[in-house]
Amino acid sequence: MQHLKFSVQLIRWQRAHGRHQLPWQNTIDPYAIWLSEIMLQQTRVITVIPYYLRFLRCYPDVKSLSLASLDEVLALWSGLGYYSRGRNLHKTACLIVSDYHGKFPRKIELIQQLPGIGRSTAAAIVVFAYGKRCAILDGNVKRVLARHFGVEGYPGEKKTEALLWKKAEELLPKNNVKGNIKAYSQALMDLGATICTRTKPKCVVCPIQRECVAFQEHREDKLPIPRPYKPLVIKETVMLMIMRRDEILLERRPPMGIWGGLWCLPEIPTSVNISLYCAQRFGIKIKLLCHIPSIDHAFTHFKLRIYPRSLKVVSQVSAISQSGQKWTSFNGALEMGIPTPVRNLLNSNYSYR
Ligand code: ADE
Repeated sequence: MQHLKFSVQLIRWQRAHGRHQLPWQNTIDPYAIWLSEIMLQQTRVITVIPYYLRFLRCYPDVKSLSLASLDEVLALWSGLGYYSRGRNLHKTACLIVSDYHGKFPRKIELIQQLPGIGRSTAAAIVVFAYGKRCAILDGNVKRVLARHFGVEGYPGEKKTEALLWKKAEELLPKNNVKGNIKAYSQALMDLGATICTRTKPKCVVCPIQRECVAFQEHREDKLPIPRPYKPLVIKETVMLMIMRRDEILLERRPPMGIWGGLWCLPEIPTSVNISLYCAQRFGIKIKLLCHIPSIDHAFTHFKLRIYPRSLKVVSQVSAISQSGQKWTSFNGALEMGIPTPVRNLLNSNYSYR
């Protein structure tokens, strides 16, 4: 009865050594749990906490979130990254209001169909909100199981992922009393985040060390096997800090793609003539003030090398203005949904005010 022992040991460990005071614990509100699970995707607990608390203060329930504008939601998300999460959150809140009378659905099959909610996130919601017996399998849990059972494939690959899901389901505690399923799911998350870490796992204090294949074979640094190597693509862009008195020009990015819906500095390819571009697109004559040292910004699958240019408007030649463009004060810009490198540029000494 190996698997019975696995869950019993984990539950015991969680009750004694796990995390119990995270702001999204000790609630059964599916909205708050959903929000936390979305924010925690690819993002550390310590980063998420202030965003989570601020977001809940502004939008305490599905209804209030559905009434917000996407701009307001993205402003609160600014700096957290992976902005499609914020867009999907807003879309889902609107769907819950229109299709479910504003009440979060209870069935995992329905939850999983909502934008931005995958199988593991849906499972975490029904476990923590409703105490249902469902398996979770996020990145941390994949690592715990791959090490424990000596799973050899790359967990991002379909076949290996399917195997890990099967394991995750088999391992679920059989009896779901006394909040067992919540303690067990939280145990897997806590173990992955605090003990079975990606580098330097603390196997000496692991409650399931004895049965762990990776530990027995001294392969904890080899499992799970990393993503197959792909050379990192570097993309280049020129960002224009166009200043007019104490205002700066921002443009809204198209809804899809990186930074979709966020407000950004205007961007042009490195090959484009800046003066000509500004005249044609914005109807302004500009003076180039300086070249700012380039900034590298890492995304999951590529690196963006940004060449910022600081410019001053000399004269308005024609009145070209579009809805996706905005002249705003620096402080106003910092309150908007802007990506981190833009925030850093606006806060830098290069911004001429
Ligand atoms: N990561 C994903 N979900 C989590 C949770 N509920 N608690 C801590 N870390 C998590």
